[in-house]
Amino acid sequence: METQGQHSHRELAQQLLDAPAPFLLALTTVADRRDVVASDDIYARGGIKLVNRGTALSGAFYERLTAHKLLKPIEQTVLIADAPDATQIIAMAHAAATQIPSLQPLLGGAMLARLGDLLAGALIPPELALKLAVMQEERPRLFKHSLIAAVVSMVLGIRGQLPSRDLQALALASICHDIGELYIDPDFFCPERRMSGEERRHLYVHPVTGFLMLRNFTELPEGTAQAVLQHHERLDGAGYPYRLRGEEISRLGRFLAVAEVTASLVENQGADRRIGIKFRLNANKYDREAVTLISGLFDVTAPLVTDAAEAQRLGQRLARLSALFFSWQRFYDDCTAEQRAAIAPIIDRVVGMRLMVLEPGFDQFHLEDILDLAGEGDADVALELAVLVDELTWHFDALLNAIDRERRVWGMEIPASIRAELDAWLLEVHTFVSEQLALSGGQ
Ligand SMILES: [Fe+2]
Ligand SMILES: [Fe+2]
Repeated sequence: METQGQHSHRELAQQLLDAPAPFLLALTTVADRRDVVASDDIYARGGIKLVNRGTALSGAFYERLTAHKLLKPIEQTVLIADAPDATQIIAMAHAAATQIPSLQPLLGGAMLARLGDLLAGALIPPELALKLAVMQEERPRLFKHSLIAAVVSMVLGIRGQLPSRDLQALALASICHDIGELYIDPDFFCPERRMSGEERRHLYVHPVTGFLMLRNFTELPEGTAQAVLQHHERLDGAGYPYRLRGEEISRLGRFLAVAEVTASLVENQGADRRIGIKFRLNANKYDREAVTLISGLFDVTAPLVTDAAEAQRLGQRLARLSALFFSWQRFYDDCTAEQRAAIAPIIDRVVGMRLMVLEPGFDQFHLEDILDLAGEGDADVALELAVLVDELTWHFDALLNAIDRERRVWGMEIPASIRAELDAWLLEVHTFVSEQLALSGGQ
């Protein structure tokens, strides 16, 4: 049974698919460089013929195609030259993975052959191949990320001894997991832009958009679309879009989540050590089996390089973080039991973040001291703390967004008596997050 939140996400995803201006922009832009031809007449819903069959599209067609609602989805009426097939995708995935040093040990000939066997039988429907071609041209980083996720998930799936049909589903789901992003206005990704709550919903529904697109292809192995839908869900319910928990998330969805996060980490060079720490800090979020399998694959003892300037920056970030926890504590202590009850969802999240600090044995109010105690030479601790700051930044950002988005869902009415204090703290959080995101280049 679909909840109301799920229903509204699905509606938004469907709207994005029905009025696909960002995708049409990408497609017509690609058409200036590669042959994109109408394989059929293209009609508007009102019956007007917009493009004759056989016409070569170009950027000039964008206006015409977005001025009307199309009778059929554009991907059913156009073909692109050299859309990638399974064999080409395997070759590209291998080439992308080869550029990443940490993946080298995983890429033996046997691996490639196995990946080949798995995907060789997979038919990629032309409509999907078109979208992948558009992603390859217009969102090359996203495309590469998808290929790397596929390689990691194959290694994971093979080690986890998934049945071949599931491996095939996992490979295809990895390649297509972010395909829903093609339907988001590219301006939203501009690093300087702080997305509004509504804009952020467009981002949050990308797994749903991908799911709605893929579930129509009956030739894809079972579980493919569902894994795409669930790739940002987390076992403790902190994921999105549906905040599923534990067993509600399919095994393929849980494997894909781990592979996808690992892929993002290995794409940044030298992130091997971070993989272990990241999963340890978030032990309640990810599938334990998949995490164990992945952790065994990377060199988690690789030496680290830190310099004094970096250590100093880290110290400052930690001090800011401690200050945030400290002012939260002051706010919390001043609240009455009723006030606390009214904002329970916020408190739960902050408690969760504090646990991330306390569990490895750090003091939430004096984080910067740990660095001093450990001494400059202790790169291990420095790395662990750096990952922790990144994680907490992400969680604080998620908290702000959740408050933007979900006040209604939580049924939360913030009592007037504490609104000003809470807002002041949230502003502090906002400033912290913005600074951290600016430091990390808008990641
Ligand atoms: Fe992704
Ligand atoms: Fe995603």
